[in-house]
Amino acid sequence: MKRYIAAANWKMNKNVPESLEFTRQLTKYLLNIRRTDVILCPPFTSLFNIGEILNKTDIYLGAQNLHQADSGAFTGEISADMLKSAHCKYVILGHSERRHIFKETDAVIHEKLLKALEYGLKPILCLGETLEQREQNKTLEVLKKQYDSAFNNVPESALNNCVIAYEPVWAIGTGVVATPDQAAEAHREIRKLVATQYTDSAANNMRILYGGSVKPGNADELIATDDIDGFLIGGASLEVDSFGAIVQSVENFMEKQEK
Ligand code: PGA
Repeated sequence: MKRYIAAANWKMNKNVPESLEFTRQLTKYLLNIRRTDVILCPPFTSLFNIGEILNKTDIYLGAQNLHQADSGAFTGEISADMLKSAHCKYVILGHSERRHIFKETDAVIHEKLLKALEYGLKPILCLGETLEQREQNKTLEVLKKQYDSAFNNVPESALNNCVIAYEPVWAIGTGVVATPDQAAEAHREIRKLVATQYTDSAANNMRILYGGSVKPGNADELIATDDIDGFLIGGASLEVDSFGAIVQSVENFMEKQEK
């Protein structure tokens, strides 16, 4: 059975001591989690130290971005090789904050995805529409454009290493969560895009996460929604109790499925 994911996106939060304290507490909190892939994506400055702790656990380390070049004169940027050497296994790409605040284009995100795969990092590719686009009924068109560009020329053999996150921009950090129906529709469409480009089995195996105001109070309902294979969690991932409770919701759901 496909393993579901609970991924924490800390964004620009937590200095090194705070990151380490959180990680130490979390590893104790999650001792009984066996069925869920838990991923922590801290800021760059905390990666290596957290990685040293996580290497002794089943929790994975991820970064929040990378630069598409191998190395060179790119002041302030971080390469895939650097992330690998800091123990990263995953990398979030195309987050809406990168697209909107830092003006990352679909073309750049595509290059980043290829670079991540080249270095053996697993991309978590974020897709999602703005409120304006949803109101203009452009959601599916936007998802298709972002998906098509990112996965252009990606071989099917690389798909096992890819994760997609549907993150409607209007639900990120707003407290407004997509309804299960809205999320299910978007996830179904994204899975269809994978099936059309590749095969049904590639589409079924792809883990498609939901992100946008996931909280302990809505995680049970969302994880039981068709086509949602886990979460990418921002605000609620900053406290051990709330992140731990969401991981537990995913774990409980997986446990029920096994029976
Ligand atoms: P949020 O953020 O959970 O705070 O809405 C999700 C994300 O941006 O990945």
